[in-house]
Amino acid sequence: MSAISIRNVWQQYDDNVVLENLNLEVASGEFITMVGASGCGKSTFLRLLLGQEKPSKGQILLDGVPLAAEPGPERGVVFQRYSVFPHLTVLGNVMLGLELQGSPLLGRLLGTQRREARERSVAMLESVGLGQALDKYPHALSGGMQQRLAIAQALVKTPRILLLDEPFGALDPGIRKDMHELLLSLWKKSGLTVFMVTHDLSEGFTLGTRLMVFDKTRIDPQAPGAYGARITYDIPLNSDRLAARAALDALPERITGKLATPDMQGASA
Ligand SMILES: Nc1ncnc2c1ncn2[C@@H]1O[C@H](COP(=O)(O)OP(=O)(O)OP(=O)(O)O)[C@@H](O)[C@H]1O
Ligand SMILES: [Mg+2]
Repeated sequence: MSAISIRNVWQQYDDNVVLENLNLEVASGEFITMVGASGCGKSTFLRLLLGQEKPSKGQILLDGVPLAAEPGPERGVVFQRYSVFPHLTVLGNVMLGLELQGSPLLGRLLGTQRREARERSVAMLESVGLGQALDKYPHALSGGMQQRLAIAQALVKTPRILLLDEPFGALDPGIRKDMHELLLSLWKKSGLTVFMVTHDLSEGFTLGTRLMVFDKTRIDPQAPGAYGARITYDIPLNSDRLAARAALDALPERITGKLATPDMQGASA
């Protein structure tokens, strides 16, 4: 059985149709990368997967069961801009998630539970290379370090699904590459299912097992909100890299022109 089924999903705000009839089966452990023009509904799609919003129509099933109405611990999320708490230390930021999970009212764990949460958080921070920065505050971290903190914060709760909304968009190219390696190694170790939005086609190509293009194919100039975006390309990346590369090269300029200019060097590796 597929881990996630998206069936006839529509999302609409007033008379603005954003997503139109999405149908998708995603197996557990896949790494889905998603591209599309600005405003076409990628973040909206992630919010639906997170359970932050309910689709206007259709259903999202997780292992055959409709998604719970609230974001649950099985889903972690990282946004483009750092979403860490400025008044908490690095360790405090990561522990907070476990504390809220273990003690929703108090937001604090005691005794053995607290010790265990601390150990898990420290181990997670070490695995993202922040073992030396436990007592620092976010303002004292670089952008890349803040994003690693946000990833640690999401992963410490051992989610099954990780949702990434342009998580590396604000980072320098060199640091991005380090973050790619980090993310791939965490993904391989954990068996996570990943959904990642990116503006960078080559990033999507390098990281994913499957690349999806969101696009509005019908436009009514009299009624801009009449039609929504669909998934117009769904390109497997993990089997035949040459075929995948050819499929990418064949994407219409209308789509690639709206994305970051891809630097495809090394992409066929
Ligand atoms: N809560 C909301 N209420 C009304 N309209 C919304 C809401 N959320 C999103 N929209 C609209 O849905 C459309 C898609 O927005 P969304 O943020 O999902 O696009 P996106 O593909 O993530 O764009 P970007 O690449 O710029 O991040 C936009 O037209 C936006 O104005
Ligand atoms: Mg967005």
